[in-house]
Amino acid sequence: MAKISTDTVIIFAFKGEKAPKLLSSFKKFDNKLQLNVEKAIETASFTAKRGEILNFYLGEDSLAKSIIVLGLGKKDEFTINDLRMAVGSFSLKMKGKIDSVALEIPSEEELTIAQKISAKAIAEGLILGNYEFVKYRTQKEENRKLSSVIISGLVSNSVKEGIEKAKIYAEATILARDLVNEQAAVATPSFLSEFAQSVAKKDAKHISCKVFGRKEVEKLGMEAFLGVAKASGLEPKFIVLEYKPDKISKSQLRQGSAGREEKLAIVGKGITFDTGGINVKTGDHMQDMKMDMAGAAVVLGVFSVISKIKPNFSVLGIIAATPNMISGSSLVPGDVVRAMNGKTIEVLDTDAEGRVTMADSLSYAVNQKATRIIDFATLTGACMVALGADISGLFSNSRDFSEEIKKAAFEAGEKVWELPLEKDYREINKSEVADIANIPNTRHGGAITAALFLEEFIGNTPWAHLDIAGPAFLSKSNDLGPKGGTGHGVRTVLNLLS
Ligand code: BES
Ligand code: MG
Ligand code: ZN
Repeated sequence: MAKISTDTVIIFAFKGEKAPKLLSSFKKFDNKLQLNVEKAIETASFTAKRGEILNFYLGEDSLAKSIIVLGLGKKDEFTINDLRMAVGSFSLKMKGKIDSVALEIPSEEELTIAQKISAKAIAEGLILGNYEFVKYRTQKEENRKLSSVIISGLVSNSVKEGIEKAKIYAEATILARDLVNEQAAVATPSFLSEFAQSVAKKDAKHISCKVFGRKEVEKLGMEAFLGVAKASGLEPKFIVLEYKPDKISKSQLRQGSAGREEKLAIVGKGITFDTGGINVKTGDHMQDMKMDMAGAAVVLGVFSVISKIKPNFSVLGIIAATPNMISGSSLVPGDVVRAMNGKTIEVLDTDAEGRVTMADSLSYAVNQKATRIIDFATLTGACMVALGADISGLFSNSRDFSEEIKKAAFEAGEKVWELPLEKDYREINKSEVADIANIPNTRHGGAITAALFLEEFIGNTPWAHLDIAGPAFLSKSNDLGPKGGTGHGVRTVLNLLS
């Protein structure tokens, strides 16, 4: 191990048949110490399940005050995300208890994962597991963040690259988490639009930002978005970010469909608080609804680091921001609104507001000639019924695009599962009076019928929809962070842009 003092040294271990199997960096300790740690493992009945910790104290004047054996779970089930989560859970459990940590990046032979990728996962785990939202605590414990991480052993350039990338990914994720965790009274439509403008200002050469207020939104013909925004005393904001790459030769620009230059639109649901409207939610369903702009937070998180990722194609970020409130001027069931693309929507339930605002955001993306559209929306409780709280529902009209997203999500450690855009279910969204109703006529398959509703507004554009109602927000802490916003989606998009 490096001759630098540290609070603790991490040694990874797989769960074994009889005893845990420690990775080879353990062999660098002297024999006596190895024996003692092995004894401790035995007496503590440490099994090395993922995230399990054995803390072996060495003493205050040792180079390292302790050795921590960190479980990775079973080797035959092991994926890169287990490494990220194991380190994340270490970082979360040790928050405030240690200041520095040393570790060696496991070799490619031992994990069958390239060191660059392992290094990235480890760094993401350390940073994200350390995350806290402390803004509103008056008694702040000081200095609970890890201040130094020592990578021992040979550190190749590709390991360094992996770590640099992890820092960017974690920064964007944390920014999204902060936005989701911020109370609705602060994270208003204006707040989000000013935030977007400040992001653009940091790299005015590549990023521009347009913000449309109520008057301009009216002119654009976004009656659907405006309908939802009607009851709120706050000015709605339609936010459009645009990233353009440096002028490079045509051959270096990524081509979109039909030989056009690629222009990827990222659309995020931006309901800054969802009361349900006139179809008001009950207390426990409303409690966490400041998170209903988690899709918007994905867009803003991504754009905040896009200049460091430098995609070689154009990227649009689109957010229709408003709370879904209740007042004398609320939409009421039976009201009909016309979306920007001309389609009429019968609003039968004001709590299905997300799809109504998204109708205009998606129409706008099509209008701007996006070559591909990906949207993130905390859209349905039904998606959580289908897939549980950890997994987002993926829907797409393009096989290629959905495969690309699944790969990007897997590498990011963000769980997604594809659900069908079953065309035979389209009639479930039929309205007696308008082109489409905003709620289906059956509860069954609610995530699918919501996605089918969105499909009406994307024309022929290759499109993918991620229903992130579950994984956008943790109801209790997991290995990678505390209760609250997760930033789910950010790292998947960054992989798509890379
Ligand atoms: N924002 C909610 C969906 C949601 C629920 C997100 C739970 C996160 C956690 C959305 O606006 C909503 O209220 N959807 C309704 C749709 C229904 C009325 C068709 C729902 O899921 O109950
Ligand atoms: Mg709702
Ligand atoms: Zn909502």
